[in-house]
Amino acid sequence: MTDPAEFCITTLKSQFRGISNLITIDRRASRPLYQQIYESFRGRIIRGELRAGDLVPSSRELARESHISRLPALTAYAQLLAEGYFESRIGAGTFISSSLPSRPTGASPSAAPGRRLLSAQVVALPKYERPSWAESLGPFQVGQPELQKFPIEIWLRLVARYSRRMRLKALQYGDAMGLPELREAIATYLRTSRGVRCEAQQIMIVSGSQQALDLATRVLLEAGRAAWVEEPGYWLVHHVLKAARCRIVPVPVDAEGLNVTAGIRLNRNARAAFAAPSHQYPLGVTMSAARRLRLLEWAQRSRAWIIEDDYDSEYRYGNLPIASLQGLDGNARVIYIGTFSKVMFPSLRLGYLVIPVDLIERFAAMRQVMDICPAHITQAVMSDFIREGHFARHVRRMRPIYAERRSVLVAELERQLGDNVTIMGDQAGMHLAIFLTRGRDDRKIAATAARQSLWLSPLSSSYIGRTARHGFVLGFGNTKANDIPQAVRRLKKLIYQ
Ligand SMILES: Cc1ncc(COP(=O)(O)O)c(C=O)c1O
Repeated sequence: MTDPAEFCITTLKSQFRGISNLITIDRRASRPLYQQIYESFRGRIIRGELRAGDLVPSSRELARESHISRLPALTAYAQLLAEGYFESRIGAGTFISSSLPSRPTGASPSAAPGRRLLSAQVVALPKYERPSWAESLGPFQVGQPELQKFPIEIWLRLVARYSRRMRLKALQYGDAMGLPELREAIATYLRTSRGVRCEAQQIMIVSGSQQALDLATRVLLEAGRAAWVEEPGYWLVHHVLKAARCRIVPVPVDAEGLNVTAGIRLNRNARAAFAAPSHQYPLGVTMSAARRLRLLEWAQRSRAWIIEDDYDSEYRYGNLPIASLQGLDGNARVIYIGTFSKVMFPSLRLGYLVIPVDLIERFAAMRQVMDICPAHITQAVMSDFIREGHFARHVRRMRPIYAERRSVLVAELERQLGDNVTIMGDQAGMHLAIFLTRGRDDRKIAATAARQSLWLSPLSSSYIGRTARHGFVLGFGNTKANDIPQAVRRLKKLIYQ
């Protein structure tokens, strides 16, 4: 006599060509049983091990043979039916869906992926690599404010307070331009502190300057259009323009900022100029009044746009903050960009654009395509942070700290490295640049330095043309004054070894 259990298994095996054996269930696994059954079937269908029209054991049989309750089998079958992997035929049973292709389409692990067709935009970009310096903090890191001095307790208190009183309305999609109260607070700040001519309706909240640069490029330029960039300049501006497949025209920067005459000579008909007139990146120079007026005049004559990146001008140490280029512009040719990354903290991802009135709707339309609108809660808390005076207090408190760090760094560079380096940059922001004497390769030195947690940003990577000079951009934002002499000693050793 055959054991009934044995009979059942034999019947299943012949009837279902061993399907029940294909389902792997591990009772000790943390994944629920229904998920294991579902994934087992789905994986085998995708790999072509189960084909369209194959009969599937009933959930009752599967449960019995696998020694589990019927509920997980029923749940998994319901999901596979809902997703179209199974179909049930009344009176006949459950089958692998006949609408599935008879040949497997899913990639098998051993199959070669074949040629991957990608957009020309992404192919134009270098591959993404998280910069090694982003992993940890250390001396000379560029673009890093002093995070330890950020009033995190106040910020957290405002986040908690706002979260407690958050209303249903705040859960809806917001305006593509951003939260009205934050736009109002920013407009007031920009008019009084940065000499920007604006009303709140012109402010768009973005996720940092990077989104603003990308958005402005999408609205104002298209593939093949020429755009001036500063040479050397901000590498992420280069990437934005590469992704947009624009023609990048590197225009030299000297002690007076972007050389407008050279730009006109190189490409008079460019559609836009990207510049950081208050504190150029990476050289740290300020654009002279004569150059500002010349740039505005060129833009008006050529019907070009100026994208003003004002990323860190809250911090000036020798004199009052330099008024924005936008404030000088009588023809609405400047798109002004600012960020909270330096004054607050970079992961906040909050920045803003000041848009000429007649372009507001165009910018909003493009913004909607990108991400509909900014996230609500950070905007609301940021607006409280500004309106209650914490923002202005934090800037006031940090100014002398950064000023001291900068002057210690300059003094140490002069004392320890003397004539072997040239220092560039005004008394502003959180970085300065040094040029190395000929024959030194900044990228090689930076790679060695990174292995010792010294974050030197090679100057040659900021050039896009052929005139690259070697040196470093040295951030002093998060390097304590007391640590600077030792960090410069390490820098000196690396340069001379
Ligand atoms: C020239 C320049 N613009 C803008 C930014 C700020 O970018 P975001 O606001 O996207 O953090 C930086 C950051 O280092 C920068 O160096």
